[in-house]
Amino acid sequence: MNKKTITDIDVHGKKVLVRVDFNVPLSGKDPNQPITVADDTRIQAALPTINYLLAHGASLILCSHLGRPKSAADQQFRMNPVAARLSALLDKPVRKLDEVAGAAVAQSAAAMQPGDVLLLENTRFHPGEKKNDAALSAELADLADVYVNDAFGTAHRAEATTEGVAHAMRAKGGPAVAGFLMGQEMGALGVAVSAPPHPYVAIMGGAKISDKIKLIENLLQKADMILIGGGMANTFLQARGYEMGSSLVEAEAIGEADRLLKMAGERLILPVDLVVADRFAADAAAEIVPASAVPADKMALDIGPETIHLFAARLAAARLVIWNGPMGVFEFDAFAVGTNRIAALLAEMAGKGAQVIIGGGDSAAAVKNAGLTDRMTHVSTGGGASLELLEGKVLPGIAALDDK
Ligand code: 3PG
Repeated sequence: MNKKTITDIDVHGKKVLVRVDFNVPLSGKDPNQPITVADDTRIQAALPTINYLLAHGASLILCSHLGRPKSAADQQFRMNPVAARLSALLDKPVRKLDEVAGAAVAQSAAAMQPGDVLLLENTRFHPGEKKNDAALSAELADLADVYVNDAFGTAHRAEATTEGVAHAMRAKGGPAVAGFLMGQEMGALGVAVSAPPHPYVAIMGGAKISDKIKLIENLLQKADMILIGGGMANTFLQARGYEMGSSLVEAEAIGEADRLLKMAGERLILPVDLVVADRFAADAAAEIVPASAVPADKMALDIGPETIHLFAARLAAARLVIWNGPMGVFEFDAFAVGTNRIAALLAEMAGKGAQVIIGGGDSAAAVKNAGLTDRMTHVSTGGGASLELLEGKVLPGIAALDDK
């Protein structure tokens, strides 16, 4: 990454505004009931940066969005549970403020001593955040001497705390640099974009192809092969002329699927068999059928054993694998076999020296469920951000940081 990071600057005695991605799953939605953090992966992922800055004599103003609140009235998205979890992980007090900006925030920031940690309220409670408002960016930059962006998961959003504030910090003469997580994500995913080792195989899954058309197009230029599973395979199979029964098919994307199939030729590999059921339910009876013979009243919910075999063969020699999107409805045990077998295979390949990168979102959750996170080369904390990076887009949250 050609961007400055926290090790390139002096943070001793400085007030540092750190944008983190603490957009974490919560235990519930009712603000009148206790809400806790259901999965703290993203909080843990920010700890190296936070601990480094604290160990080097800085005081920290942390900020993040949480969920997609329409306004500050969406009380279930307050940052209080995040502050509690972070405090437990750091084993020190984290002072949670009830605003994003304003006089009380400025006062608290001004009074900070080295080692202090403040957490601002959900940045999306402020109407200026999503608008990338220049006044909010300038106000936030004024709280600190240094801006650090460690929110890889939000780097595809040009918002006040991810993009505008970097420019505002530079305008007042302060550094705007990347944290460790940002550097790590860019390093791992950047390999696939800039200098991929070959053979390079991409595995794509998940429900929809309409979200991933650009990604598949870009991957066709870089990867040697793309293996397709999950719901999106149904649309490709239908484009190839198969009847898909009651399976999820994106009728409006069949034309695009056909175009991608023609563009890819032999390099886009579809399932040859599927696990089908008569309804979308955990206890539905599973049956294996050829991909060309899905019964009219059945829906595809997983890839079949022949497909797993075929994918394993195509993956065997790969030196780089990118995986995005589950192979089936992995939330239901009966239809999680394809996803779990691919996860296990990739863990084995990573153990033998292949670079295996999991592109965030559902695939990261599936790998975590299977207890295999630590065995992969890299599991991204970014869903949309990792997709946009792999699509070849410039992420505004990274572009705005100081060049080396
Ligand atoms: C994510 O979870 O992908 C990021 O935190 C970004 O969230 P958003 O899609 O609501 O902008």
